[in-house]
Amino acid sequence: MKRCLIRGGRSLYGSIRVQGAKNAALPILAAALLGEGPSFISGVPRIRDVYSMGEILAELGARVSWTEEGVLVSPSLSGWEVPESLSRKLRSSVVLLGVLLGRFGRVKLARPGGCAIGARPIDLHLKALRALGASFREEGGYLWGEASRLRGALIHFDQPSVGATENALLAAVAAEGETVIENAAREPEIADLASFLCAMGASVSGAGTSVIRVRGGSKLRGVPHYRLIPDRIEAGTYLLAGAVTRGEVWVEGVVPLHLEPLLAKLREGGVEVFSGPDRVGVRAASRPRAVDVVTMPHPGFPTDLQNPFLVLLALSRGVARVTERIFEDRFRVVPELRRLGAEVEVSGRQAVVRGVEELWGAEVEAPADLRGAAALLLAGLSARGETVLASAGTLDRGYERWTEKLGRLGARVEVVPAGSRGRRQPILCWLGGADGGRSEALA
Ligand code: UD1
Repeated sequence: MKRCLIRGGRSLYGSIRVQGAKNAALPILAAALLGEGPSFISGVPRIRDVYSMGEILAELGARVSWTEEGVLVSPSLSGWEVPESLSRKLRSSVVLLGVLLGRFGRVKLARPGGCAIGARPIDLHLKALRALGASFREEGGYLWGEASRLRGALIHFDQPSVGATENALLAAVAAEGETVIENAAREPEIADLASFLCAMGASVSGAGTSVIRVRGGSKLRGVPHYRLIPDRIEAGTYLLAGAVTRGEVWVEGVVPLHLEPLLAKLREGGVEVFSGPDRVGVRAASRPRAVDVVTMPHPGFPTDLQNPFLVLLALSRGVARVTERIFEDRFRVVPELRRLGAEVEVSGRQAVVRGVEELWGAEVEAPADLRGAAALLLAGLSARGETVLASAGTLDRGYERWTEKLGRLGARVEVVPAGSRGRRQPILCWLGGADGGRSEALA
């Protein structure tokens, strides 16, 4: 397991180019399997979750090759079974249900893995696919799906789900007749998947709103070149890195509107926000004000930026309340943040954050949640002294070349194999206790 040594307390300055959206890349790579010919997708981030999806596609018989620019997927499929070892690696493997039912009328998939942030059921996915004519049984830890024929239907979701909307969309393009998806998730990544499907020859309208209409059954072709939308969560993470270190950071190649839920909260807290047609910058010269945050489906405040935003609140003036409405267990990072001196109390789905003047370097461990790991990285960057972040490899799941990008902003971060002390000099570390860990110092 990798560890990251962070020499914090330095303000970050500069700009970085944002990667293609992880959460668009994963379903779009899977959707490429529905085409008659190869698809080329550019802007695909070089991150572990994408490599895992590539391994799954290869296991199913597709050819997946990387170039400088992106990924070529040649969908010469031979299989419809996703081995457990692969599907457990990432949550997004669940979109293979819709893809493989659409392509073969069959699928065998182990329950998907992903970040540990709650129960993460897949009932909405199954309900939508059943409405289109699929049937499922569970046996030996696997889910077996079958559909002799998929037929368009009305699908009404009890609540918006990104993955379930994607699965419904992927199966609906292969189903005969019209499908209407009501109470669909409205995330930009869903609109991106729909644009890709349209480029393949599918007829999809309304994606990005809560009602999506699909006229299914057309033959789909490969897409010679498709460019992914930028990753709003990566962009948001770097903007927050600028804000928590009281520096000035710009993200290039973004869609500013996608970042608005975060930018609105930053402005409310007194952080300066600058915006151009495809770039956004933030400057935080002094401590921001505490602001309350409630996570919501898009266009609400994204749950994926909730943990990173906690770090800003931990350093703000005043007391803030953070309510997590999407996942039931998304405050796992809090005990680790407390080791750095953050004053955060969690009760169920709510956290109360009492802002402090500064955080202090400590030894912390990234939880098995990508965005929790990102929050600890930000906290370490802002903290005085040195932070050792164990299990830092979690960040490779979603952030491309993150040490290099941070280095360009002036951060001092170094990744070393577990057990190695790196090039660091002896420095004060603080051991965490119930009080947030300011009481005991180690050399
Ligand atoms: C996707 C994103 C993830 C993001 C999340 C919410 C990807 C690869 N991941 O995850 O980064 O945090 O959206 O924006 O795109 N639910 C059910 N039953 C289901 C499905 C979902 O109850 O069958 C619940 C979930 O437990 C959760 C809520 O619906 O409470 C929303 O989850 P969902 O939108 O499905 O998230 P994911 O697609 O897993």
